[in-house]
Amino acid sequence: MSRTRTALLAAMALVAGATGSAIAAVPGDAGAAAVPCTVDYKVQNQWDTGFTASVTVTNHGAAKSSWAVKWTYAGNQKVTSGWNAKITQSGANVTAANESYNATLASGGSATFGFQGSYSGTNAVPATFTLDGVTCNVDSGGPTDPPDPTDPPPGNRVDNPYDGAKVYVNPEWSANAAAEPGGSRIANQPTGVWLDRIAAINGAGGKMGLRDHLDEALEQKGSGELVVQLVIYNLPGRDCAALASNGELGPTEINRYKSEYIDPIAEILADSKYASLRIVTTVEIDSLPNLVTNVSPRATATPNCDTMKANGNYVKGVGYALNKLGDVPNVYNYVDAGHHGWLGWDDNFGASAEMFKQAATAEGATVADVHGFIANTANYSALKEDHFSVNDTVAGKSVRESKWVSWNRYVDELSYAQALREKLVSLGFDSKIGMLIDTSRNGWGGANRPTGPGATTSVDTYVDGGRYDRRFNTGNWCNQAGAGLGERPQASPEPGIDAYVWMKPPGESDGASKAIDNDEGKGFDRMCDPTYTGNPRNDNNMSGALADAPISGHWFSAQFQELMRNAYPPLS
Ligand code: BGC
Repeated sequence: MSRTRTALLAAMALVAGATGSAIAAVPGDAGAAAVPCTVDYKVQNQWDTGFTASVTVTNHGAAKSSWAVKWTYAGNQKVTSGWNAKITQSGANVTAANESYNATLASGGSATFGFQGSYSGTNAVPATFTLDGVTCNVDSGGPTDPPDPTDPPPGNRVDNPYDGAKVYVNPEWSANAAAEPGGSRIANQPTGVWLDRIAAINGAGGKMGLRDHLDEALEQKGSGELVVQLVIYNLPGRDCAALASNGELGPTEINRYKSEYIDPIAEILADSKYASLRIVTTVEIDSLPNLVTNVSPRATATPNCDTMKANGNYVKGVGYALNKLGDVPNVYNYVDAGHHGWLGWDDNFGASAEMFKQAATAEGATVADVHGFIANTANYSALKEDHFSVNDTVAGKSVRESKWVSWNRYVDELSYAQALREKLVSLGFDSKIGMLIDTSRNGWGGANRPTGPGATTSVDTYVDGGRYDRRFNTGNWCNQAGAGLGERPQASPEPGIDAYVWMKPPGESDGASKAIDNDEGKGFDRMCDPTYTGNPRNDNNMSGALADAPISGHWFSAQFQELMRNAYPPLS
């Protein structure tokens, strides 16, 4: 903030010196009456091809019941989306007209709206603005005022939405948890609300719809700040590398995804009634990384992932979602970023980051639509492995050569998330993006939790004896036996990390352990069958899944009980 403020004052002083009258534009000044309006146009964020700006118009004349601000660009700026005004552009001429909810402009009152635009070359601030055809005084940061890294991010979003905020407790999950013996110890924890099919928007099968959740969120909010966590999860050809969470839309149904799923969600989120909520969206779990790791010519390829890569509908869907949801000024988009045991290898890490950039610049989205990324959603990767690191050498071998690490560059989620953040910033994402880590089921506590490093006989005894994560392989993802609740949700736990969250609601199954008929499009994936001996995606290991599991998303009491027993930190 400070640098912009100084530059602004300097610019005003310059104008005042030159004309001797600009100071009269300051509201409340004796001479202000002569100035019908003031426009404050600020470039908030700027990158090589785009920018976001915030405009405040102050009316010094008689009260108005509707208004329109106009300006003309000297360069090739193009407004691509706006908020809190209806913004249209014809050639270089831009008109920003009121929305119904900010139509009245009292005498002395102001309205603020914002927008995102593209440009090349210079991004000069327009010289003249009018309010309803009358020229206003300009009160701007000026064309050479670079965005200050401490300025608030686009749309006046706060840097970390979790800071100083409570997080929404989903009453439906909470009731399931509270109904379990011992469940009241965690039933008041916040968990993600999964919009996992079109019908979930209005409420499927008697369950709460999106508006029901947001109305309840306003109740929980009271006079403080509150984050609501939504999971956007309904891409065409969903879950292309597995079967347990296949969805309702076929691989080609991108238009239905846009018009029947994203558009209605965006419309509800944009309701001014909900403007005071901080709405965090987790965008499309397990989608983009599949286009990197599970496509031909790799041995891990699946036909469905090859299809989704070829038809581009994951990239388009994610781009569209980011663009539309990002237009809502109080939405904070976090893109799913897999987990270290999937993308931590050199072959996957950079290529995935580039894939995220590609999707974040598709279908009208820009990097400014991305507030951050989320790691480990619905997965089991340990947050921190304290007893070994990739830099350790045992019996002449690097830990990276152990069977468990298998040349991965990362051994836990925290180091992975922090490194990925740096990589994404280097590719052009905002330097203030933050990471979320889903710690709902990565605790790995209980009696089997190691208390020190393994024996130094070999890298394998060393790593296997010391690791918290008890899976057979980090490629295992379904209802893992032995897992526990991880860190409780909390804001700003580590540098670069906006929050630990429970995006996957503990106790909800990852998939059925045998085929079960259902009307949700869910298939039977053998990775959820405890007798399955694996495939190339888990390096042909046993699945490690619990028996007797219901289909994904359904309540799995036995798993919930085990997660509580093996919680780390333990439950008191
Ligand atoms: C399922 C969703 C469910 C979510 C949260 C996913 O695996 O496919 O239907 O809402 O988990 O439990």
